[in-house]
Amino acid sequence: MSANENEMLGNFELRRQGVVTRRDVLMMGAVAATSLSVNALSAGAAPESAAAVVTKDPYVAKDFSALVTKNMDGLSGNQIEPHLKLYKGYVGKANEIYNLLKTVDLTSANATYSPLRELLMEQSFAVNGMIYHEFYFGNLGGSGGDPGGEVKAALDERFGSTGKFMDFLKAAGKSMRGWVVVGYNTRGNHIDTFGLDMHNMWSPQNVVPLLVLDVYEHAYMIDYGIDRAKYLNAFAKNLDWQAVEKRLAATKKLVNGGDSTI
Ligand SMILES: [Fe+2]
Repeated sequence: MSANENEMLGNFELRRQGVVTRRDVLMMGAVAATSLSVNALSAGAAPESAAAVVTKDPYVAKDFSALVTKNMDGLSGNQIEPHLKLYKGYVGKANEIYNLLKTVDLTSANATYSPLRELLMEQSFAVNGMIYHEFYFGNLGGSGGDPGGEVKAALDERFGSTGKFMDFLKAAGKSMRGWVVVGYNTRGNHIDTFGLDMHNMWSPQNVVPLLVLDVYEHAYMIDYGIDRAKYLNAFAKNLDWQAVEKRLAATKKLVNGGDSTI
């Protein structure tokens, strides 16, 4: 599969190759505008400072390939492998948008449509698509059961027990179309949960993700068809609580406990 195909996969979770969508059309506009801008540069018509623009890729895909061969109970390598390709597509698009934002035409800025508006909007889709997948794959591959230490204490405080929390998590997984995120609210110093139907919808600020559950159909259809409940049970069995504990410990080490509203 070519890099371009990967990117297209990553931009649309379940799209078929060759289908051109509204986002494609808008991105083409952004690319075309950038191309015009570059042409203007070469013609000597651009501002002097634009000549210093350097293209670089700030994001590098993390390696979660060990999950493919781990023989997880209920989550096959056949399920994980294409999911990792989707993830890499988001990394590619996040880099692409990062660079396009350096050279995009600013003179056409418009709140109905403009290349700049489109890039600013889709940036959150691509970056969140990348980051949420990294949290998700990073908290897979464990042995489920109960958390320890501060995570258990924090969940008990909010939900009463780990069992009640897991009931909530699975119900939340049935309620959303994209993600369920369990995070540490650095503003209120407590565990919070939120759900998203798309990568860039409904993320509260200053809630640091600790445990992320992907409930897009692509996360389980190969193993379970449309039976999401079975997938949620499999996710629970393979949850890596140690990863969640490390994330909470790291969050609490942040200056001011991670509260950046100072
Ligand atoms: Fe996913």
